[in-house]
Amino acid sequence: ETVEWDPEQAGKGEYDHFMLKEIHEQPVSLSQAIEGRVDPARGRIALEEFGPATFEGVESVQLIACGTSYHAALYGSLALNRAGVRARALLANEYSVGAPPVDENTLVIAVSQSGETADTLNALRQASAEGAATLTVTNVVGSTAARVADETLFIRAGPEIGVAATKTFSSQAVMLVLLAQRIADDVRGGPGADLESLLTELSRMPAAIDDLLSSTNARSIARRYEGCQSYFFIGRGLGFPVALEGALKFKEITYDHAEGFASGELKHGPLALVTPETPVFAVFTGTEDEKTLKNAEEAQTRGAPVIAVCPDGHRAVDVADAHLEIPDTDSMLAGLFANVQLQLVSYHAARLLERPIDKPRNLAKSVTVE
Ligand code: G6P
Repeated sequence: ETVEWDPEQAGKGEYDHFMLKEIHEQPVSLSQAIEGRVDPARGRIALEEFGPATFEGVESVQLIACGTSYHAALYGSLALNRAGVRARALLANEYSVGAPPVDENTLVIAVSQSGETADTLNALRQASAEGAATLTVTNVVGSTAARVADETLFIRAGPEIGVAATKTFSSQAVMLVLLAQRIADDVRGGPGADLESLLTELSRMPAAIDDLLSSTNARSIARRYEGCQSYFFIGRGLGFPVALEGALKFKEITYDHAEGFASGELKHGPLALVTPETPVFAVFTGTEDEKTLKNAEEAQTRGAPVIAVCPDGHRAVDVADAHLEIPDTDSMLAGLFANVQLQLVSYHAARLLERPIDKPRNLAKSVTVE
């Protein structure tokens, strides 16, 4: 007698898809990312892979990436700007045709889960050839990016099988938030802003994500808005990259049309598309939330259902048609909780449509051609 044993099925454990498994791995992958790297009691960040004052001379930072990693890069650029360091996120595939000039005081950070994306490697090599200092934030030890860049920061998320990136996005974003503080410290010549609150919230994050995963209503939201014409995601500040990522995930795995916008841009065009058939997911991260709420209400007035992604007790809950709850946390991290809720909405929406969630048509985990 033989026992049927499908190694792929076995790898998924209790989950039907790798994507869901990897969404649920986020408490663990984030613990691994921050382990030994944050010290809330002393209000300190320890990134021991870098020697003392490694980033002392940095005058500006460019973050280069593709796809989901680009959204993490955008998140990181905002964290750097907030910390007082000049930074821009750039699409790696546009780098050769429009990169801002670099010199030896420019730090170019390639953000790549696989460390093998051709577009990102090309941009990294170009920046290096033009004299910039380089660093990569990657998941894969021994990857090409890790070999090419001057410095490497591993996100330690463990293998990700689902084509749609989930746990690696949150780890990339968290590592970039930490790196932003470290770069700012080196540039200033000493620790700046009081990091205690951020580091405390960061160390609580794995448990808080666990709570979110066990209490989420994402499945019922997915069901409620099934079969709509288009799905919009809006956010401001650190909520903007999350809106872009929410839409990317949704289109990748449901094959429905989804688009992410900066909240304030809704009125400059996309509002023309808004109807009762276009649900709007509004991400609130504690940055000018009143403005985002006003933008969401403009869509609601045109009949669009608004799903507020915000803490309980937030004013948006009373206005919105539905609510996805996130904890009340540091504004630097709120968007990452919102992102987990949106990952789950996409997953359940794709599942209702019976899509091949782990292997969406036409997409590859790692794109090694230009
Ligand atoms: C592909 C994957 C995306 C990923 C992108 C960048 O398009 O389907 O999920 O975000 O490549 O990959 P990287 O390995 O560089 O993060």
